[in-house]
Amino acid sequence: MNINTNYDNLEQSYLFSTIAKKVNEYIKSNPDKKVIRLGIGDVTLPLCKAVTDALHKAVDEMGVQSTFRGYGPEQGYDFLREAVQGYYKYHSVDLELDEIFISDGAKSDLGNILDLFGTDNTILVPDPVYPVYVDTNIMAGREVKFVDANQGNEFLPMPDKNVKADIIYICSPNNPTGAVYDKAKLKEWIDYAISNEAIILFDSAYECFISDETLPRSIYEIEGAKDCAIEFCSLSKTAGFTGTRCGYTIVPKNLGKLNKMWVRRQTTKFNGVPYIVQRGAEAVFSEEGQKEIKININYYKQNAKLISDTLKECGIWHVGGKHSPYIWLKCPNSMKSWEFFDYLLENAQIVGTPGSGFGKNGEGYFRLTSFGSYENTVEAMERFKKIFG
Ligand code: MLT
Repeated sequence: MNINTNYDNLEQSYLFSTIAKKVNEYIKSNPDKKVIRLGIGDVTLPLCKAVTDALHKAVDEMGVQSTFRGYGPEQGYDFLREAVQGYYKYHSVDLELDEIFISDGAKSDLGNILDLFGTDNTILVPDPVYPVYVDTNIMAGREVKFVDANQGNEFLPMPDKNVKADIIYICSPNNPTGAVYDKAKLKEWIDYAISNEAIILFDSAYECFISDETLPRSIYEIEGAKDCAIEFCSLSKTAGFTGTRCGYTIVPKNLGKLNKMWVRRQTTKFNGVPYIVQRGAEAVFSEEGQKEIKININYYKQNAKLISDTLKECGIWHVGGKHSPYIWLKCPNSMKSWEFFDYLLENAQIVGTPGSGFGKNGEGYFRLTSFGSYENTVEAMERFKKIFG
């Protein structure tokens, strides 16, 4: 028996597991201290009423023989695919139903999609970025090249014609920096991908935070994207589905064999998202659902503004928070990322995410999330001001 030795090339544990372990240890030895978590991007507001009503109804259907459902279509029920199709149409993107695949979240599909590609592809990943892109490729033994994101390019790296890549990851609005590509910049990436015969894996998990109509929420808003891009989206941040699990992946038919290969992969390795969850997801796209989730998104945006205003007051350099739930800041007093993590936990009982966990260019930076409760965010910022104000 041979094990996959590529795992030896990974960090010992996944970033957010390492943080959770450190925080749990701190709480164990300081049981009287109130820790405020602004680390992992996990939502805190409950599911909206339109969703819970739909979930309840679907549960009842499952308890009655005539409406009970067993295995569903692996690609998702048509009612949800049609709802997703309508959502894209609203943003002026036309999709065919069989280009839409319902998933249990963007993270799983971002890993699973790699089944479609050989190990000899060169992967291009921005640094810093969501660690799943790098780790899933390391697990498969692929070569990963990095493109630098930094203050100089406003954390929006652009393609370098001298670098050859086969698979390119783009996350916009970006996790962790909150930076968003405009249409012209994305077009440059699309042209680069087409001229390299490469594929863009576009993660749009934070699209619902975009508040400027001119910024693209889907890569397919830009000409040429259907010839080179697969898009991943999720209801986790959009509608609080981090625990409920539902997302969608778009594999355009223009991509030749890839659409059929994905069908083959999913029908073999995946049995679909539960019917009950898909009914809840369908409700997100209803008129009522859209109204209700906007209230929640605005609540998080208010938190983001509060964090940003506090950092401004303290004279701390930062970006993000405008079209994204994340605020990306430079660690005060030239501290390193993990040093600042420990300092903040120890002195203010605030948990954030060390920038270096997202790549070498993240060293010296730190990410705060706006997904906490308003009250906790206010308290955290008061503690922050006491130290750095
Ligand atoms: C994050 O904090 O970066 C996200 O919660 C991770 C995820 O969505 O898996």
